[in-house]
Amino acid sequence: MTLGNTAENYGTIAKWLHWMTALLFLGAYVSVYYRHWFTEAKTPENWTALQLHLSIGVTIGVVVALRLLWKMANRSPDPEPGSRLDHLAAKAGHLALYAVMVIMPVTGYLGTGVNTEYFFLFDITSFKETEYFIFNYSDTMTFKEFEKPIDFIHKDIMGAWVVWLLIVGHIAAALYHQFVKKDRTIEKMTRGS
Ligand code: HEM
Ligand code: HEM
Repeated sequence: MTLGNTAENYGTIAKWLHWMTALLFLGAYVSVYYRHWFTEAKTPENWTALQLHLSIGVTIGVVVALRLLWKMANRSPDPEPGSRLDHLAAKAGHLALYAVMVIMPVTGYLGTGVNTEYFFLFDITSFKETEYFIFNYSDTMTFKEFEKPIDFIHKDIMGAWVVWLLIVGHIAAALYHQFVKKDRTIEKMTRGS
């Protein structure tokens, strides 16, 4: 077991961070759509589902910060054989996924007017209540006006489309490597070190 990445494989820490992110993304989607589809507005279940979404989203923000630091401090495994275009596409896809992992928590936090009751353990002040918002924005606009474009990015553009497309594309690429190219791409992120 190697903590850091090697030429052949992702190390234990990169693997944990990757699979934890995948699980947290699933949790962020399940909680928000459960809220939409299976709860009534203004019920305790509706609030709990929202708070789970906020808590999971904030956790993704923390995990991605650790992940980026770990990535900077580590080598990447050598890519599997492929054309320059294949390697470029993989790089671009991974970069876009990192961008999503940063944009979603940031737009989620900035566009939410209620505190995050972090897994019901402690409160994280909402952006609306921070001195930064009060001093810089509250004189010129209401929070509703401020959050509108941010919510549009978080929900309508990223949440409903871009994130799905990237994740589906990412999983399809992993399956293509496994079953068509039959190389070690998935193994690097799952087995050995
Ligand atoms: C990677 C992390 C996140 C993902 C993938 C994500 C995804 C989503 C999605 C898919 C929606 C619903 C879109 C729709 O209405 O169709 C949503 C709504 C929302 N998100 Fe996030 N989000 C994340 C992080 C956050 C964070 C950190 C916060 C705030 C601290 C947040 C606050 C909200 C709020 C308030 C809504 C509206 C709730 C609702 O429509 O029921 N999100 N998010
Ligand atoms: C079932 C779901 C998933 C599978 C099967 C999967 C599979 C993989 C595999 C095999 C790699 C290694 C690729 C390589 O070395 O070229 C990888 C890397 C990566 N995955 Fe996933 N993944 C999944 C979910 C996710 C999710 C949800 C995200 C983020 C939202 C994500 C983000 C990334 C990123 C950014 C990398 C590049 C890591 C690096 O080298 O820095 N993955 N994934």
